Amino acid sequence: MTQVSRITDEQTPTSTSSTILLRISKFNPEHDDSGRFMEFTIPYEKWTTVLEAILDVKKHFDHSVAVRYSCRQATCGSCGMIINGKPRLACFTKISELNSNVVTVEPMNNFPIIRDLAVKFERLFNTHQKIKPYLIRDDSELESDEKEFLQSPEEVEQYIQFANCIKCGLCNSACPTMATDSSFVGPQALAQAYRYVADSRDKGKDSRLKIIDDSHGIWRCHFAGSCSQVCPKGVDPAMGIQLLRGYLLGFRG
Ligand code: SF4
Ligand code: FES
Repeated sequence: MTQVSRITDEQTPTSTSSTILLRISKFNPEHDDSGRFMEFTIPYEKWTTVLEAILDVKKHFDHSVAVRYSCRQATCGSCGMIINGKPRLACFTKISELNSNVVTVEPMNNFPIIRDLAVKFERLFNTHQKIKPYLIRDDSELESDEKEFLQSPEEVEQYIQFANCIKCGLCNSACPTMATDSSFVGPQALAQAYRYVADSRDKGKDSRLKIIDDSHGIWRCHFAGSCSQVCPKGVDPAMGIQLLRGYLLGFRG
């Protein structure tokens, strides 16, 4: 069932604002057989984000809308969702940049739904943990007096863009292989595997390559490239996956 709500006097747009129809997916897997959309007409300004519009709905119309967010500045990775058909961060997407009078928000694909727009992150965190997302050194080195492992700018350049990952899961949501293989390690974890393998301070390359050289690992990627198109932090998981394959095929040392 669809509910249409109108703006209240309190929300009457200013002279510089317009209104949009915000369609929010409502689904509670514990009670509902299928999802539905609730629709709200709300005002927005040039700088209003999709997250702010959703929070407006929670404040004025329906406080039960489930949405996860925290930093509101594209840093914590909490607010990923499908916005007008594409995985995006709600706090980093301005309504004005969507060029549409209708904004539809749905939970991320390839993630189990908790309720409405909130999804479970267990699979992402498990695969991230699986590739050992930390520097691996010999115990004896760590016990030595050497306190720093210096790098040249060129060595930092090898991995630094991959260190910008905020674990938002947008890349996994966009990935067609994630949709068809529930055991696929996914672009987020593969990009992080590359991040550590390419780090000159790390000595865990062989163990990480062994983990991803699996029937549900790196070879399942068929290079759709959609992961890289949706990343809000400029990470290029598709490139990381190709570079990792170079190690496994003996093209890289
Ligand atoms: S690689 Fe990009 S899209 Fe994927 S989890 Fe990290 S920040 Fe998000
Ligand atoms: S609320 Fe933190 S990334 Fe959007």
